[in-house]
Amino acid sequence: MDFSILILAAGEGTRMKSKTPKVLQPVLNRPMISYLLDTSKLLDPKKIVIVVGHGQEKVKDVIGNHKVEITIQEKQRGTGDAVLSAKNNFREMSHPVVVLYGDSPFIKKETIERLVDNYTSEKSAISILTINVSDPTGYGRIVRSGDGRINRIIEEKDANVEQKEIKEVNTGCYCFEPNLLFGTLETLKPNNNQKEIYLTDVIEKAILANKKVVSIQTNDEMEIYGIDSRQKLARANAMMRDKINNSLMDDGITIIDPDTTWIGDDVKIGNDTTIMPNTFIREGTQIGADCEIGPNVIIKNSKIGKGCSVVNAVIIESIIEDDVSIGPFSYLRKGTYVKNNSKVGTFVETKNATINSNSKVPHLSYMGDVEIGENVNIGAGSITCNYDGVSKNKTVIEDGAFIGSDTLFVAPVKIGKGAVTGAGSVVRKDVSPKEVVAGVPAKHIKEKKSQKEGKNE
Ligand code: UD1
Repeated sequence: MDFSILILAAGEGTRMKSKTPKVLQPVLNRPMISYLLDTSKLLDPKKIVIVVGHGQEKVKDVIGNHKVEITIQEKQRGTGDAVLSAKNNFREMSHPVVVLYGDSPFIKKETIERLVDNYTSEKSAISILTINVSDPTGYGRIVRSGDGRINRIIEEKDANVEQKEIKEVNTGCYCFEPNLLFGTLETLKPNNNQKEIYLTDVIEKAILANKKVVSIQTNDEMEIYGIDSRQKLARANAMMRDKINNSLMDDGITIIDPDTTWIGDDVKIGNDTTIMPNTFIREGTQIGADCEIGPNVIIKNSKIGKGCSVVNAVIIESIIEDDVSIGPFSYLRKGTYVKNNSKVGTFVETKNATINSNSKVPHLSYMGDVEIGENVNIGAGSITCNYDGVSKNKTVIEDGAFIGSDTLFVAPVKIGKGAVTGAGSVVRKDVSPKEVVAGVPAKHIKEKKSQKEGKNE
């Protein structure tokens, strides 16, 4: 059945004490509302409408590139008022409206489908998703009559002692017949302890008007978890972390310490890879099979092949091919491309750097704006002086070159195939293939005699 989705995201989230609107607070590095938007889009509804209010410019910036209609609730007068502010978006629509709360982002697609099915099969006017919880504090309680039918939803702040004992609560996920929804909301007054227009009051009014109100349940507390404080945000992050880690472990990935391993929900990891403790594998990352990643690693937006080892390293927007060793203590910045069987070692920083197969940058180097050929060995302490104060210049080190410790490459500069630089060289001019240079600045010494090409130590 066709339906639309209305997401309420105008609230301030006072308890967060933040300049960031509540629905933009990040769960695993992305705004919480983005989870709800992804789920909503998977359902392929007729339209998605989002009510924004507090911090609306910031919220619009984040949701603006999604295919949604945005409506404004100028003053936050409660969930009922928020829905009413979207009335014009649903004019002349006969199919039902699913209402979701932007601060409960983990509702599952299947649950919303079940809710709409229940609404349709029961020929109801309202279907509500409820849950039984051990601690109902903060939630609206579902008040039922003796025969089990729903009477009303009573908010925590308006409930009496007996009602507060009810363990079945409102999740904030409903399917409404639109005329009933908007028509009833227009009649509601803020006659409650919070002086708000409650969406939940539509239920009692509908029952009094002999409309059919039904419900389904979920037993997954994560699905309905509302995030309105920093404590709940921390718990939501941990829930999401556990969900992702469990699913990866089910797929054959070893995670030694799931409590200290944080992996983005779009990350792909190959079979038999082991993730060591205190590792953050962030969005946009792919890792192949049989790797050992961690401990103490951050990887973001990067691709890592199979059979790699990464220890104590930060890797950002980089590509690592197969059987590569990174770390300990390496920083691979944007545009690093390390090809098969190569090594980036201890205290090495790279940026916009291609390191071709079987090459090594083992210790204490900065390699920026550089193309390093195959079978190259970069001696400890070598540095590309890529910035002349105005522009970034490139260093090219061709196949089989042997770079002595502490070589400085004053870019732009090119080291030819199989050339050698002596320890402590400052190379300001291009070095021809097989040439040996040394000194400060490096002076030509002699033609290289031995066939060192391809030897990589
Ligand atoms: C609401 C429900 C409660 C339910 C709980 C589930 C009502 C009256 N109560 O309570 O029964 O158990 O959710 O989490 O609906 N919002 C606006 N504009 C406003 C007020 C709120 O857009 O004027 C949005 C908020 O951004 C948020 C959502 O509505 O995404 C829920 O609002 P909130 O005030 O947190 O409702 P609760 O008190 O949690």
